Amino acid sequence: MLPDAAAAKARIAIFISGGGTNMAALLYASRLSDCPYEIALVASNRPDAAGLTLAEAEGIATFSHPHLGMERADHDAVMEHAARDAGAEYIVLAGYMRILSEEFVTRWAGRIVNIHPSLLPKYKGLDTHARAIAAGDSHGGATVHLVTPELDSGAILQQLKVAILPGDTAHALAERVKLAEHQLYPRALASYLSRGSDPEWLLEQVRRRAMALPEVEERPSHGAPGWRVGGKSGKYFAYFSDRHHGEEAIALLVKTSGVDEMTSLVESDPASFYRPAFYGASGWVGLVLNRRELDWAQVDYWLERSWRAVAPKRLTRLIDVAKEF
Ligand code: GAR
Repeated sequence: MLPDAAAAKARIAIFISGGGTNMAALLYASRLSDCPYEIALVASNRPDAAGLTLAEAEGIATFSHPHLGMERADHDAVMEHAARDAGAEYIVLAGYMRILSEEFVTRWAGRIVNIHPSLLPKYKGLDTHARAIAAGDSHGGATVHLVTPELDSGAILQQLKVAILPGDTAHALAERVKLAEHQLYPRALASYLSRGSDPEWLLEQVRRRAMALPEVEERPSHGAPGWRVGGKSGKYFAYFSDRHHGEEAIALLVKTSGVDEMTSLVESDPASFYRPAFYGASGWVGLVLNRRELDWAQVDYWLERSWRAVAPKRLTRLIDVAKEF
């Protein structure tokens, strides 16, 4: 009935510069059942990267373009073009030894991921293993993180620690960290790409937005998280519904102007709206959250509209005044 974010696989382009063992780990994981991504392209700045040969042999489209003699942003644009042509929605860096231009990273914000061989924020940049050993650390490790213009500084998705042994060399530690990376990367990427169908993540996003409206308190109602405004006897303007009453949707329930509007929303856009059990009778609508291409601006719009419908005048005036500035 309703589309689920998990139904279609995310298409990823993997960028490599070398051996591509992390790429291989991602590739084989993508062939296991239930993996939420598929590999649209493996691309490299080095035409002789060993990982390209492997990807080709496994039937994956490949692309390469040397960076020598090119401006950074121009080379990034060539790589980006290849990724877009292949239909990639995410870029996954796996030993891609190039710093990316700010424009490129900004265009892919939230859709570009990297693996780094240290426990960030420790040891950004190069020679991570030697630096961890020299510092006398008990552990090295690996971090999967979002990429932002500042090197190795984006939000951390997941980390895995690797014990440093007595007499360890940087080379020996690097080899063991790679074993850990091969476990970590497919899993961290899969859970990031599946967040749109994870009720906990969705609730967190809704909660942050609902609580940002004036004088809102969260209070469960019939076991579901709900938000109300106007103090102790305040009225509810939103509920979070995690597949209640046998419904497939994880949804935000909000107030429309009445049953007519709710019905016309459901008829005109059944992928986004549905008539919720019980609440539908009084003009509430279900806004489906677990769908691809969910637009959070639409969630913000409905939260505010619903909040306005029940908030005391003194508060709606407050928000109107704030918007004038
Ligand atoms: C991996 O250890 C990865 O974490 C590291 O390069 C190696 C690539 O190995 N990446 C970086 O240092 C990025 N700054 P692979 O080609 O065998 O996957």
